[in-house]
Amino acid sequence: MRHSVLSAVLASGLAAASAAHSSDALAADSGYGAGDLFTRFGVAKVSPKNDNGTLLSGAVEVDVQSDSAAAFTLGYRFTDKLGVELLAAERFEHAIELNGDTQASTKHLPPTLTLQYYPLGGTQARVQPYAGIGVNYTLFSDEKVAGATLELEDSWGAAGQVGVDLLIDEHWALNAAAWYLDIDADATIGGSDAGTVDIDPVVVMGGISYRF
Ligand code: NI
Repeated sequence: MRHSVLSAVLASGLAAASAAHSSDALAADSGYGAGDLFTRFGVAKVSPKNDNGTLLSGAVEVDVQSDSAAAFTLGYRFTDKLGVELLAAERFEHAIELNGDTQASTKHLPPTLTLQYYPLGGTQARVQPYAGIGVNYTLFSDEKVAGATLELEDSWGAAGQVGVDLLIDEHWALNAAAWYLDIDADATIGGSDAGTVDIDPVVVMGGISYRF
């Protein structure tokens, strides 16, 4: 996690918000819903499932470790109750245990697009939960392993999401969100097919939402 990036994002968000806010500070708290363009930002932790499969016909047990990084989303509400959101982040870097020893690592970017349902959208409720389903595309890079070349192929998979905004005013909310990503990456070692690494992480993000 790079704190400098996160603080820069927070600072620019706060500056933009206070500029926007001074003009409409007295506006009534308006509906949370149709037409909102929004961003959510904070720190996300990617926790792969415990057992990530085996490579080389069962000879090598794979265990991918967790990592945290700054993350943000961009989204739009088509209607009070329906929206889309794209999750983006810094690259996450995961240590990989092979047969119990940390011998490898990989970096990845997991952009994820979800179609979302907001059951209380368009109401005055200050607690606004949502759920979404969509797709994840994971780009792996910089795999490192002692003594051999490990490559993980980019993967497409399904994604699910739940989250909640706790509205502070017409722009700001506290946010907590979680995604489940189905990431099954084909692996090669030294150029030969070695099997599939089943990462399937839960991504948990805590932070702030801002509606424009
Ligand atoms: Ni999977």
